[in-house]
Amino acid sequence: KLFTPQQTADGALLSHRRPLKGVIIGAGQVGMACAYSMLIQNTLDDMLLVDINQEKLQGEVMDLLHGLPFVEPTAVRAGTLAESRDPDVVVITAGAKQKQGETRLDLVHRNVEIFKKLIPEVIEHCPNAIVILVTNPVDIMTYVTLKLSGLPNNQVIGSGTVLDTARFRYLLADKLHLDPRSLHAYIIGEHGDSEVPVWSKVNIAGMNLCGTGIEDCLEQEADKLNEIFHQVKNAAYEVIERKGATSYAIGLGVTQIVKALLRNQNRVLTVSTLINGIHGINDICLSLPAVVNRQGVTQILNLSLTENEEKMLQNSARVMGETIASLNL
Ligand code: 2OP
Repeated sequence: KLFTPQQTADGALLSHRRPLKGVIIGAGQVGMACAYSMLIQNTLDDMLLVDINQEKLQGEVMDLLHGLPFVEPTAVRAGTLAESRDPDVVVITAGAKQKQGETRLDLVHRNVEIFKKLIPEVIEHCPNAIVILVTNPVDIMTYVTLKLSGLPNNQVIGSGTVLDTARFRYLLADKLHLDPRSLHAYIIGEHGDSEVPVWSKVNIAGMNLCGTGIEDCLEQEADKLNEIFHQVKNAAYEVIERKGATSYAIGLGVTQIVKALLRNQNRVLTVSTLINGIHGINDICLSLPAVVNRQGVTQILNLSLTENEEKMLQNSARVMGETIASLNL
């Protein structure tokens, strides 16, 4: 006999360390972009995909499995939360998605209803996992998950403005003919229409792009910079208009969050998390630069902001607060 199978797919997991286990809920375009990105970046040892549409789920998992000879080993499975085996991380992408002309906040009531059923199941089957929310409106869904789950604040993280920050860095760096990794900049607040560009902190090698704030720029320069922010804020609308959804960039961004968690990187990322007492904001989830490691979010950085940036952040918090107040939790 040429080959005697001795190991199940699980047996292929690395034995010298605890296998890193993750669940992705929602096998739509975003969920699958997360899965594909995590697979090719060797992020997990065990990846379970969950979706209510069984046919689609089976097809997606088959397609990933056929690529296994080309990547480092990952046990990729389709299943239910009951089959999740005490995962380290659960990524939630399930829910209604934006159609052309809709804002992220338009989705809130539909997705809250979905979460009322989903989150208790996540807690029942994955009580030790760090939960990453990707479903929009992500800041509200992060808050809703915190309230519905009773999990500690550090364990519930929204992808927040990680994507907007990436768009901002890419567009600025492209304009300046730089590698986006060499340009540091942050979008904070809501992942949505009220988000805030922190112009006062945009820097290349420690050199500020706009002095102490965009107010320091010449009018012509400021116009160009504001146009870049406009593109960042409207990026999702532009992509949705052309291809119906956004997926690759968020998949890459979520992979960075998962790696920061599982590899205990202490990486600073603009994830969405519960804010209490920073910039006078209380009991609202939104993005500020935060330290991400194996515990989840362990520190939120208190950025100094210009008067205008501060005003914009307060406005973003107000929008989030009003949306939360309209919920029937
Ligand atoms: C995005 O910004 C739609 O939130 C999604 O791409």
